[in-house]
Amino acid sequence: MTTERRLRLAGIAYGGDYNPEQWPEEVWAEDMALMGEAGVTMVSVGIFSWALLEPSEGVYDFSRMDRILDLLHENGIAADLATPTACPPAWFFRAHPEALPIDRDGRTLSYGSRQTFCPSSRAYRTAALRIAGALAERYADHPAVAMWHVHNEYGCHNAECFCDTSAAAFRTWLKAKYGNDLNALNHAWGTTFWSQWYYDWEEILPPRATGADPNPTHRLDWRRFCSDELLSLFTAERDVLRRAAPHIPATTNFMVMHNFDAMDYWRWAPELDIVSNDHYLLATDPESETDIALCGDLVRSLAGGRPWLLMEHSTGAINWQPVNRAKTPGEMRRNALAHVAHGADGIAYFQWRAAKAGAEQWHSAMLPHAGTDSQIWQDVMQLGADLRALAEVGGSTSPAKVAIVWDWNARWAMELPSQPSSELRFQDLVRDWYTPLWKAGVAVDFIRPDSPDLDRYRLVLAPSLYLVDDAGATNLAAFVEHGGTLAVGFHSGAVDENCHVRLGGYPGAFRKVLGVHGDELFPLLPGQTVGLAGQVPQGATADLWTERLRLTGADAVATYAEGPLAGVPAITRHAYGSGTAWYLATHPDPTTLATVLERIREEAGVRPEHDVAAGVEVVRRRGAEADYLFLIDHAGHGAEIPAEGVELLTGKPVVGSVTVPEGGVAVVREATREPSGG
Ligand code: GLA
Repeated sequence: MTTERRLRLAGIAYGGDYNPEQWPEEVWAEDMALMGEAGVTMVSVGIFSWALLEPSEGVYDFSRMDRILDLLHENGIAADLATPTACPPAWFFRAHPEALPIDRDGRTLSYGSRQTFCPSSRAYRTAALRIAGALAERYADHPAVAMWHVHNEYGCHNAECFCDTSAAAFRTWLKAKYGNDLNALNHAWGTTFWSQWYYDWEEILPPRATGADPNPTHRLDWRRFCSDELLSLFTAERDVLRRAAPHIPATTNFMVMHNFDAMDYWRWAPELDIVSNDHYLLATDPESETDIALCGDLVRSLAGGRPWLLMEHSTGAINWQPVNRAKTPGEMRRNALAHVAHGADGIAYFQWRAAKAGAEQWHSAMLPHAGTDSQIWQDVMQLGADLRALAEVGGSTSPAKVAIVWDWNARWAMELPSQPSSELRFQDLVRDWYTPLWKAGVAVDFIRPDSPDLDRYRLVLAPSLYLVDDAGATNLAAFVEHGGTLAVGFHSGAVDENCHVRLGGYPGAFRKVLGVHGDELFPLLPGQTVGLAGQVPQGATADLWTERLRLTGADAVATYAEGPLAGVPAITRHAYGSGTAWYLATHPDPTTLATVLERIREEAGVRPEHDVAAGVEVVRRRGAEADYLFLIDHAGHGAEIPAEGVELLTGKPVVGSVTVPEGGVAVVREATREPSGG
């Protein structure tokens, strides 16, 4: 990020994807009037407009976009102008059928939807850079354009292509990674196994469908390549835009949400001028507010602690899950303000006006099919007023003293086939640890295993770090040595960056700092539980995972109460250097995990941001001159919370305590408080 390329919008931006090309122009005037009423300040335009902007190769029609941008400018609305490269037109594929992607099973996919192109296709890259360049040249100085929206959700539909062009690009990537040394690759991939040794680079293919389990390192390198390949498309477009318009910041919308795991965003984030994210709820998630919080904290961390933009979420139901549930009363407002609480300086929706036609005709929008005579429109108007009232929150940050280690390599590796248990899900395991901290109102950052400056934190948690390289493991151990508290979850440190098992006992890379030694893994069957005894709540149990562990310096805090491992340590605590390292060698039930994590946190001297009632989310944003205490009632009971200052949403002074309405939100401007645990 450079200071020159920041978004120059005051306060909290408000808006959504705007697709006026799908409507007759008479409708646009109404759009402008209603955007004005709702307080919309920025919209994303042109995301899927390639076919209209470039009707045939190299022939442009910018007339409609000219009118749209002029209209936005006349109405004081900023444009987040997209490059339309997520949707190559039909004429492109007729000229370049080789640019269509091929899936793992060898099927060629057809155009007629979106994002159906091979990321390694030269023809695609050339065409994408051409339209990006033409747009940049035409609109670099247009006064409406505040930001470039490069492409859309890279990797959403085409993270992997298995065609011969992709195979060649993969080999080029591998040659660079392994210094052109095929033996280095053979050793890293362990290809003496199952006769996989390669004698010629040309023998190497993408991990296409095979008869039995794939080579794990092959798969892992492939996922790294796929992320890098799309990243190179982003940076190529960004550079074209920068050359023509060096003053306009560029973003692309990430997909940090529940089950999307295709991109290594630690590698992407530094390439963006402004980090932005899309977040949708899973209808089957009973506590999706936790996912909003976790993903918000992760996005803020990707942005280096700076504010970020929520580029898309929904006012109501979406259209791409088996059953698309509407939001409950007040949920839309709670969702949006929770994103702000976790660092968003912009709130936007997919999309402004609900579509009449096309694959997303049943997706909610800011202006629903029913028009302004609708609950959603009332909520959209209310949110616009809320965001105006929160303008001064823009630019503020977060004061976390706890960090959770997050790593896409570890995630990809742990979820490969042929693991000790196929029941382990990285995001679920991290969320299990995140949830009690979040419920207690403890601020959390996310970090990479090798993040510098860990001494900013008192407590570092590594709930699920199956793969870690030596640099990461050493970094975390040094944090403990210098006085920090580290807690590590089961099956962490198991393999190195090549997915090779770390020999000599479990949990490989962390044995020494944790003061334990495991010699055999005992994953539990689905539904199977085991009792725990020791310094844990009465009736404590665990599921998913156990291991035969002995102490080599640590103390046992809990042991297994029954089964083949009865009496074996399950939770341990080790004084190491000037710090403390905990190992949770199993997956305790939620109450037990919350109790253990509370003890770890209290011993580390980390306090919640505020003492709040159960069910009320509390998040603190720290501004230059004040703190902003966000109180969000997810339980629907309302609460009276001690506070002093001004409640910004109502503008009322707060003396002694603030009322959080049932299912509502309060945001109190307070005098800056000592950082938690500080
Ligand atoms: C994604 C896309 C949007 C739209 C929404 C629907 O986030 O970026 O174009 O398809 O999903 O939820």
